[in-house]
Amino acid sequence: MSRVGIIEYLKGSRSNDRFKHIMGVVSVAGQLARQEGYDQGRAELAGLLHDLAKGLATVQLKELLAQSGWVVDQIEMEVPELLHAPVGAYLALTKFGINDPEILEAIRYHTIGSPEMGLLARIIYIADYIEPNRSFPGLEEIRNLAGQGIEAALIAITGNIIKYNIERGRIVHPNTLLLRNSCLRRTT
Ligand SMILES: [Fe+2]
Ligand SMILES: [Fe+2]
Repeated sequence: MSRVGIIEYLKGSRSNDRFKHIMGVVSVAGQLARQEGYDQGRAELAGLLHDLAKGLATVQLKELLAQSGWVVDQIEMEVPELLHAPVGAYLALTKFGINDPEILEAIRYHTIGSPEMGLLARIIYIADYIEPNRSFPGLEEIRNLAGQGIEAALIAITGNIIKYNIERGRIVHPNTLLLRNSCLRRTT
């Protein structure tokens, strides 16, 4: 399906807010790609597809996950909301024929992150967090950091996520910390 076809599909099947979020991610992903010397069209396509499985019922997510071949960990199974990432990658492949491994990796890891993930996955992880429809204290600062470089933004975002979960007594996914450490090592 063409890019326009995918946009039409998403427009017709998502709530207005979700569609706006997706298009926000597309736009920021495109900007970050230009800034980092990555293919803009590929980044925008990943942004367009990243939440493909968002909003599916847990039963459906688990069913599709079983078919997908993606391996998930125990925390992802305990927090079904996280499963829309690997299932989204599966739907991008099966529904839209997207087999670009970097796009599939970006969709699969946009929730929990991964210390090994490549540039496109890093771009989508950041774009998902800072896209223009989001607003919370400290976000403007992170947007400015992202304008200067990927790693500094990732350190700030993962730090925020860790603090946010700890303050609320929630589980922190270890990948968030591993991703943060990998960025700290790259920058020092
Ligand atoms: Fe998502
Ligand atoms: Fe998202």
